[in-house]
Amino acid sequence: MVMDPSLRADPFAAYEELRGRGVISANGLISASVDHAVCNEVLRNDAFGTAGGQGELPKPLQWLHHKVIDPDTLGPVDPPSMLAVDPPLHTRYRKQVARAFTARKVGRMGDRVEDVAAALLDDIAAAGADDFDLIDRYASQLPVTVIADLLGVPERDRGRLLELGNEAAITLDPGLTWPQFRQAERALREMHTWFRGHVESLIANPGDDLISQLVLLDGDDRLDPVELHQVGLLVLAAGFETTVNLIGNAVALLDRHPDQLQWLLAHPDGWGNAVDEVLRHQSPVQLTLRIALRDTEVAGKHFAPGHGILLYLGGANRDPAVFTDPDDFDVTRDNADAHLAFSAGVHYCLGASLARLEAAVALRALYERFGDLHVSGTPERRPTRVLRGYERLPVRASVTSREAVNSG
Ligand code: HEM
Repeated sequence: MVMDPSLRADPFAAYEELRGRGVISANGLISASVDHAVCNEVLRNDAFGTAGGQGELPKPLQWLHHKVIDPDTLGPVDPPSMLAVDPPLHTRYRKQVARAFTARKVGRMGDRVEDVAAALLDDIAAAGADDFDLIDRYASQLPVTVIADLLGVPERDRGRLLELGNEAAITLDPGLTWPQFRQAERALREMHTWFRGHVESLIANPGDDLISQLVLLDGDDRLDPVELHQVGLLVLAAGFETTVNLIGNAVALLDRHPDQLQWLLAHPDGWGNAVDEVLRHQSPVQLTLRIALRDTEVAGKHFAPGHGILLYLGGANRDPAVFTDPDDFDVTRDNADAHLAFSAGVHYCLGASLARLEAAVALRALYERFGDLHVSGTPERRPTRVLRGYERLPVRASVTSREAVNSG
């Protein structure tokens, strides 16, 4: 099912078919689940690991996470990326990176996020705001600027890194064509080359950013160059490639639910819950994979070591046992945040509070500035099936509408 391109546009009917087959559906090599309780349990269960971790992945599945061995072509989710290793190695990496994402540090980023949003909206207004691509001009720019600050990426390199990130994001999908693979491989090589130079310049001139902190570690905490690359590229990719989808998906959903947008404009405290409802309804990361590390049982099903299970987070987030009328989009849903869009357990997204903050600020600022913003052309989806979002989202707004209301 993960291979079928038609499912990119609408995987939800297929999720329901899977749900109809039971809480876990199995074939010889791999199982799959769209069940909230099963996904949650597997993600939190230390009898399961990630595909690149200690688990012995069956040969035919190795391509899923382990496609390349040249360190200069390792993608952000290939081992030794934090996402692809299990404890105790995982604990070692996560401890270092978590320092950059404490609630206090993220809270302090609030003002910076507001400033970035305001500056981007000023540019859009100055250019007339009629007919622009929301992804290119806003939804991608805001998270890129924030993460680039966090990692000390100079302004001049940000545009090129965003292009490379988009080219490399396809490696998250299984079953790449040869040209896709070649293009992604070239992009990854260029990213590694850039990162090497970045690390060298931070060693010479350390700053206040996360990579400088990691470069300066010593003793047992010290990361070797491959580890450092994988940590840095993962945070870069996570910051570049996920929040953009959340903001784009939110705008597309609110366009289809103008009454809820009006409600949010009158109740700005509701933006936080609205962001969780978008995460639930159109999860930017639709699936992840776990492999049994030892004999174990989940929901009465036996897993032998090496047996994999695809966890459809986007399907778990539509589980009727947890969410009433799960296909409805409702920004006032009282348990919207019970979703698994940020995963669960040891790999729970480190950037979750930053992503929530960015999206709430971005959306509120966007609609407060352009109250009549609406989708004006045909949106184009990104070609990836793991990441769910838009490549292009044409919108139109009149510059004067909301500004006139504000000043009047
Ligand atoms: C809407 C935005 C985002 C979504 C939906 C998202 C989703 C996820 C998911 C599902 C995982 C775990 C995957 C698994 O269990 O296999 C994850 C891990 C991670 N995310 Fe996010 N993420 C988002 C934004 C961010 C941001 C902005 C950052 C950093 C700036 C970030 C950094 C990370 C890191 C470092 C991990 C690995 C954690 C670990 O392995 O321990 N994420 N994210």
